Amino acid sequence: MEEKPLLGIFDSGVGGFSVLKEVQKVTSVDTIYFGDCANAPYGNKQESEIVGYIKNILSILKKNGVTHFVSACNSMSVFTTEKLLDEMNIRKDRYIDMVDAMHEIAFKDDVHVLIIGTKATIASEVYQNILQEKGVIFSTFSPVHLAGNIESGDIQAVSNDIVDVLMYADQAKATHILYACTHYPLVDNLFKEETKIKGFSFQYIDPAVYVAYQVKKWNLKGNKQIIYKTSKETDIFKKYKEFVL
Ligand code: DGL
Repeated sequence: MEEKPLLGIFDSGVGGFSVLKEVQKVTSVDTIYFGDCANAPYGNKQESEIVGYIKNILSILKKNGVTHFVSACNSMSVFTTEKLLDEMNIRKDRYIDMVDAMHEIAFKDDVHVLIIGTKATIASEVYQNILQEKGVIFSTFSPVHLAGNIESGDIQAVSNDIVDVLMYADQAKATHILYACTHYPLVDNLFKEETKIKGFSFQYIDPAVYVAYQVKKWNLKGNKQIIYKTSKETDIFKKYKEFVL
């Protein structure tokens, strides 16, 4: 009997909805979205703790029959090794993460990219190494509370964090801002509004588009059903379900 494909997209919380939204545009496969809202945010935690979360989520998804995986969380992706996937008995050719997406992005010669991400993502230096290999000029900045503030729905705090990012980007003379945390595209409108108010002209790059491109290549078919699972049903989780629809 032919295996029925089931996609599993996961994040520390609601951030992965920004990836789910892009993926939904290119596939009809049935999907489970898992957000670990009980433990979010991950970004200020230690690698060993984050690796524990990855294993836990992958076990849950496997038990639910997931055949293809999308890690929609940079803070997990930067710590996901082939050894870990082997241990979890997951095929690498059925696993896409945010680091894979970063490899796919093509940059023009004259850009200066500000990578914004969680403390864990920036400290891992994974993206700095990729951009260096590509010969791209870059800076980094970590708005350490932004993912948590998005997760708790504190819009005032989110706006303040965004202003900090923009002031830093201006100082660094960045031309592009790269969302290296999947929570940030959820407030893309606020980033762009504030950019306009301040009279800046940064371009934004969302790696989720590149994740979707890779998922499309799997050519999985289904009824486009989405099952939502979370370790804690928060108000913000309920709200973002609508964001995808
Ligand atoms: N959305 C995640 C990321 O891409 C995690 C943010 C967090 O939980 O701190 O890094």
